[in-house]
Amino acid sequence: MSTKKRRKVIAGNWKMNMTPTEAKELAKGVYAQVKGKKGCDVVVCVPFVDIPAVAQIVKGTIIKLGAQNVHFEEKGAYTGEISANMLKDCSVQYVIVGHSERREYFGETDETVNKRAKAALNAGLTAIICVGEKLWERECGITAEVVSRQVKLALYDIPEEQMQNVIIAYEPVWAIGTGKTATNEQADEVCGIIRSVVSEKYGKQVAKQLIVQYGGSMNAKNAEGLLAMENIDGGLIGGASLKPADFGVIVSAAQ
Ligand code: PGA
Repeated sequence: MSTKKRRKVIAGNWKMNMTPTEAKELAKGVYAQVKGKKGCDVVVCVPFVDIPAVAQIVKGTIIKLGAQNVHFEEKGAYTGEISANMLKDCSVQYVIVGHSERREYFGETDETVNKRAKAALNAGLTAIICVGEKLWERECGITAEVVSRQVKLALYDIPEEQMQNVIIAYEPVWAIGTGKTATNEQADEVCGIIRSVVSEKYGKQVAKQLIVQYGGSMNAKNAEGLLAMENIDGGLIGGASLKPADFGVIVSAAQ
């Protein structure tokens, strides 16, 4: 396995924002800001109904298309759900799995996170698996324990060959949408812990190549410092991904 330096991946998570009409405009704005920028991968994870509209705009550009969730079954009586193959057929290449908002508001568990990650990987999608501690867990001094457990359970039964399509996003819950960012050192420390959990399970080479993103109030001002850290290979960006100029600055910081 090559030991080349890891690429950086900057992914926007638009969450439940943008109608298809608005999404087209935002995608055009993002493209205007990131075109010609090389040296990192750029992804926009958009609401399901925006996928066809955004796919049209990003086709043939450096921007890759992502979704925000995926169901774990291939098809069947699962009203309201979307399968990995449906996403693939709409040109989606990435999918966020286990975002803390899904864990918190929609009953997502470590078990369903694992099942969704497997479904995504089996369909050939790249899974951006989110993990992160809550504020009281950090205050109790169990951040490493919580995050390690989430990573181990999310990766249960995932074979080594599929690890090249796994990205892990460290998103401390207390930093999401709050304007409170982890310090560069706090973020790097936990991203390093994630890498060592992966190393224990899959070996050093897989761990060395694993993309670990930071997410949680990453913005145009703090991105450069965070992205310069040893163990941080990109960002999962919420609020700032809705502002093309800011998102462009973050992409530049990753180059
Ligand atoms: P934020 O969201 O950048 O708005 O904090 C990040 C995320 O939830 O992925």
